[in-house]
Amino acid sequence: MKRRPGGDLKWVLALLAAGAAAAAAEDLPQLGKSPTRDVVAAMTREEKVSLVIGTGMQRPGAPPERQGPVVGEVKAGVPGAAGNTFAIPRLGIPAIVLADGPAGLRIQPKRADVSRTYYCTAFPIETLLASTWDVSLVERVGRAMGNEVREYGVDVLLGPALNTHRNPLGGRNFEYYSEDPLVSGRMAAAMVKGVQAEGVGTSVKHLVANDHEWNRNTIDVKVSQRALREIYLRGFEIVVREAQPWTVMSSYNKLNGTYTSESAPLLTGVLHQDWGFGGLVMTDWFGGRDAVAQMNAGNDLLMPGTALQQKALVAALESGELKQDVLDRNVTRVLELIQRTPAFRRLAHSDAPDLKAHALVAREAAAEGMVLLRNERALPLAKAAKLALIGNSSYATITGGTGSGDVNKAYSVTLGEGLKAAGLSVDTAVADAYAAYVAEQQRKQPAGPPFMLLPPIPEREVTAEELGRLARETDVAVVTVGRRSGEFRDRKTEGDFELADAEKALLRDVAAAFHAQQKKVVVVLNVGGVIETASWRDLPDAILLAWQPGQEAGNAIADVLTGRTTPSGKLATTFPVKWEDVPSSAGFPGKVLEGPDPNAQGPMAGGARAAEVTYDDDIWVGYRHYATKGVKVAYPFGYGLSYTRFRYSDLRLSSHQFDGKLTASLMVTNEGSAPGREVAQLYVSAPGKARPKPALELKAFAKTKLLKPGESEALSFTLTARDLASFDEASSAWLAEAGSYTVKVGASSEDIRQTATFSKTAAETVARVSTSVGPAR
Ligand code: BGC
Repeated sequence: MKRRPGGDLKWVLALLAAGAAAAAAEDLPQLGKSPTRDVVAAMTREEKVSLVIGTGMQRPGAPPERQGPVVGEVKAGVPGAAGNTFAIPRLGIPAIVLADGPAGLRIQPKRADVSRTYYCTAFPIETLLASTWDVSLVERVGRAMGNEVREYGVDVLLGPALNTHRNPLGGRNFEYYSEDPLVSGRMAAAMVKGVQAEGVGTSVKHLVANDHEWNRNTIDVKVSQRALREIYLRGFEIVVREAQPWTVMSSYNKLNGTYTSESAPLLTGVLHQDWGFGGLVMTDWFGGRDAVAQMNAGNDLLMPGTALQQKALVAALESGELKQDVLDRNVTRVLELIQRTPAFRRLAHSDAPDLKAHALVAREAAAEGMVLLRNERALPLAKAAKLALIGNSSYATITGGTGSGDVNKAYSVTLGEGLKAAGLSVDTAVADAYAAYVAEQQRKQPAGPPFMLLPPIPEREVTAEELGRLARETDVAVVTVGRRSGEFRDRKTEGDFELADAEKALLRDVAAAFHAQQKKVVVVLNVGGVIETASWRDLPDAILLAWQPGQEAGNAIADVLTGRTTPSGKLATTFPVKWEDVPSSAGFPGKVLEGPDPNAQGPMAGGARAAEVTYDDDIWVGYRHYATKGVKVAYPFGYGLSYTRFRYSDLRLSSHQFDGKLTASLMVTNEGSAPGREVAQLYVSAPGKARPKPALELKAFAKTKLLKPGESEALSFTLTARDLASFDEASSAWLAEAGSYTVKVGASSEDIRQTATFSKTAAETVARVSTSVGPAR
């Protein structure tokens, strides 16, 4: 064990200097020992300004004033972390370290002059975690991730992220949970609880409406108050209320005309006043434009920090544009955050988290979140089956997305390796051909930082002879379809949301060859987001949506394919028939506005154009739209098959009259022949007289334990008035209407198994909110 921060000599010298300074001025207040306000009072103006601005980040090619470190400060000791705060040793204020998130801790795996490595576990992407519908499992993932944060000497993890799956093309959807705010909020809350149980912080991001990447630093998202409150803010509200994250990260975009990082109604009004948030707000990296407006809005910490911001704040203090008490409020919040951290508590860290144990958690979570979309007696695979394993991604299995959400892991398991480890035999000739092809193609990829998304490798062509031989000599074909995406760029429809022609042709050819021999074809979707399936899904006999499952990918997919784990994942985002059916597609991703780069003066200057998008889909996101309008989908929200069957029975309500609270209970029984777990979903249909309401809305969910064949479990759910309420713009309040409500419990949003009704005699104002976040014009 060694002390923070990891043997950095400069840092040790800085600490010694701090000690000496403190000794020389014994009467100086010290953070944690003296009241925080005394520490604030003892700070110079420059120190205060430095504390609310991170210590910078090297940005290749950017001019010096847009680089860090802003004040020549010593960088604290975790290479590859995203940022640090400023240390003021004379007042006992250490630097703290912030690093990404959200699929695992992101730090540099190797350090100069150090032979050991600093790898982190690549957990499954958030979209997969949401598909587990298992909050306690997600909390365990958070715990394992938080332990790595803690043991590598990092103080705050920059995650979880919970923007909305508003459109399948959102380039970072893999980093987000769901199209539904209840799923997003509860998953994020579980993650925050898990990470923070390790004594480190989280940063719930990106508040709010950074739902796609196109012009993300300039775009003005215009959205109604109702949609904001019910869809886009609701998940954040749940996580803030349920799990008290240490920090929140504001988003890059504007919201109804104002950068979120400069919006007092959002950061002070909604977050602190309405939701009772007690933590700190930081910007996204180089986000927003006006440092003074950000300070005034309650964006306490500007990350990663630039010299330009430093200058702007000093000048604003002089001119009176920035009031001393506003700066002091933000400084106080930074100090409160620092006092919670391992850095402040001088906790030792091992640099040696238990990566083996965490890999097991990653594998378990990955298998639990895979969704069986189709199964015509093809799965589970027989142990003795000989497989024709086809598709580039079977041999270069995609573990996660790119950008800040990528993780530097020690290894990853391909599907080929996972199947072999599970004892299945894979045709070696085709495996060797693919391995050689993929390696050759990878060599040809442009050299770029691993951070960035590389062009996809063209699918290897399989000849008719090869297919004929495989169909004769093997028992089952497993074809993997892979997709990558990442920060900075949205996906496209051709060849990404939709299968490329070569991929469709491959599926057709494989299906024809294997079906001709009465043999089955299984497709594994190794994707980060929703893709089109309706046009080809009848070709294979089974489709397993494996998502991007983290470093244990191949093992976890093999667990599900072989039946070691009975699939129990369900979709937390709808698979539409076609992209045009998605209600947000019409105006996606938005339009460019005339005029110069609105960030010309800011740290993100560089050719971005002013842009805007209007969320015309309002609250009708995902299943709320499809179910209400009767639009046919490929696979509905909440859908997922199993190797067993479940019966729902005995739905009972505690009362048929709503009086502040109501409990619904029911039995779920495993009626099939394999052990399995079921995700039961509770939807409510409201009277919808006072204002239009979706045909049904998810209000609660639960996942059973592993039920043996014949075994039952009683589940119960509680509904509160807030669950019945809608946001009313005119009165700025959550209102629950009077009338008859239906509780619908089912295995998916389209597979309702039990219903019951209750009534509410009087309309009720459930909660008032203090602020409006600007009307959508
Ligand atoms: C991303 C954030 C991330 C930050 C620091 C930004 O580009 O939007 O999600 O936490 O970088 O790496």
